[in-house]
Amino acid sequence: MPRAHQAAWDRIADQVLVEVPRPMGATSTVVDPAYRLDPQEVFGRTAPLVVEVGSGSGDALVAGAAQRPEWDFLALEVWRPGIGHALAKMEAETGAGAQPNVRIVEVDAVVALQTMLAPGSVHEVWTFFPDPWPKAKHHKRRIVTPDFVDAVVRLLAPDGVWRLATDWDHYAESMREVVGAEPRLELVSTDRAPLRPVTRFERRGTAAGRQITDLAYRLR
Ligand SMILES: C[S@@+](CC[C@H](N)C(=O)[O-])C[C@H]1O[C@@H](n2cnc3c(N)ncnc32)[C@H](O)[C@@H]1O
Repeated sequence: MPRAHQAAWDRIADQVLVEVPRPMGATSTVVDPAYRLDPQEVFGRTAPLVVEVGSGSGDALVAGAAQRPEWDFLALEVWRPGIGHALAKMEAETGAGAQPNVRIVEVDAVVALQTMLAPGSVHEVWTFFPDPWPKAKHHKRRIVTPDFVDAVVRLLAPDGVWRLATDWDHYAESMREVVGAEPRLELVSTDRAPLRPVTRFERRGTAAGRQITDLAYRLR
């Protein structure tokens, strides 16, 4: 982790990172399936909850939390250097200190989404530029699978929205197919997600001549 990100980590990680039980050891990103995160306890209030899957270096997380102080943001990310970068961005955004409406869990979202949060408790789920795994033999590693869709549907509040974005046409098609096959969800928008900033993944995709696809699904 670059020194500036480590310094941000040392200053504010204890206010932002949520420690969770890890049955496979302290360095594992697998959360204990029996663990339940209570947003009211973690954020100290009740507010609409956004869960970001794979927040990377925190662009959407930090910008979204700044623009919606009345919402709470919970990011799930396995890549520790990305979390350090997000903390540094957070300090740049606030001038000093943590954003009170952001928490990050260093955790595998695939497992966490299935177990860690109460059904119907999430206002929005964000999955922006998930790892594309462009080679055909790696498609099975993509995070958006029928089981993942099922986990998101379980979490969404009655008016909840799942926002996805990708710069890979093949992944976009696959998202439309896999998520579109879920009868409890309907596609409500293909416009750019309102709070989604331009990240390096979007810039890189656009520079390479790829098209950006946004998809927003709502519970029927
Ligand atoms: C391509 S990056 C996109 C980051 C960010 N969403 C953006 O748009 O800039 C994908 C991120 O998802 C994270 N990721 C991949 N699989 C994950 C998982 N199972 N649980 C949590 N995060 C995951 C990666 O570590 C990486 O930071």
